[in-house]
Amino acid sequence: MTGFTLHKLHRSLGAEVRGLDLAQPLDPTTRDALIEAWLEHMVLLFRGQELSPETQRRFCENFGPLGERSRKADDRPEGAGVEHEMLVTNVRRDGVPIGSLPDGEMYFHHDKCYVPVPDWGTMLYAMVVTDTGGHTLFANMCEALETLPDDLRSTIDGRRVLHMYKYHPTERVELEDDIGRHDHCWQPAVVTHPRSGRRALYINELMTALIDGYSEEESCGIRDALMAHVRSANVIYEHKWKKGDLVMWDNWCTMHARTDFPPEQTRMLRRYTIRGQALTA
Ligand code: OGA
Ligand code: MN
Repeated sequence: MTGFTLHKLHRSLGAEVRGLDLAQPLDPTTRDALIEAWLEHMVLLFRGQELSPETQRRFCENFGPLGERSRKADDRPEGAGVEHEMLVTNVRRDGVPIGSLPDGEMYFHHDKCYVPVPDWGTMLYAMVVTDTGGHTLFANMCEALETLPDDLRSTIDGRRVLHMYKYHPTERVELEDDIGRHDHCWQPAVVTHPRSGRRALYINELMTALIDGYSEEESCGIRDALMAHVRSANVIYEHKWKKGDLVMWDNWCTMHARTDFPPEQTRMLRRYTIRGQALTA
């Protein structure tokens, strides 16, 4: 008996978990069943939760140690969270955002693919949501890989890719920039999920700057073709937030993006991550 039921959100990925109050401690059987469900569905949604920073953090710790913030503390917006916590919000004090990722659209990306040990999971809890827009899109990168046309697959098979991030939601790092100034890391183009053993495409539109063996221009072309494939493959779930939603996603086999939203509407979510491990092809 695990005390929860699963309800699919999309044909390809995502499930809503009903019957759990995440503010209460989980017993080991329920925790193990949730991990199994998470590995299968990649994105889990829990609606109607009331979570303090402490209870959200405790829930997150069921899955492993918390991930670190990669951005240096003195380079972060004031109040944008201490240590493991991140506030994702457009609320401003004296015109300055008090949190991270404040405004509008965000291109598809994998959290932390630009560091050697990418976080496994991210948990976002909605405290204030917009009336329109600000949806989060999740793509199943295992199915994206499985359905890739042979010619595209052979262009990336066995290659490495350079991921870089300059903490901007819709701007990529330019290679002629001094890349040493930005977080960056080489990763396999296709990774094997350390827990499920499934293979997943590990390329995204925001952070993937270069594919080994190709010029910058060729790399952009391949990346764009891959993104067009993902968009056409019916592997994307679009989450429309309600206050009290907690969504946890797996960064090793999904990428995510955010749709635009009106700047005059307030949006505020609290985020913790689960530390991961180095990824191999
Ligand atoms: C994140 C992220 C998207 C959103 O927290 O990593 O990409 O919808 N958030 O705010
Ligand atoms: Mn993200």
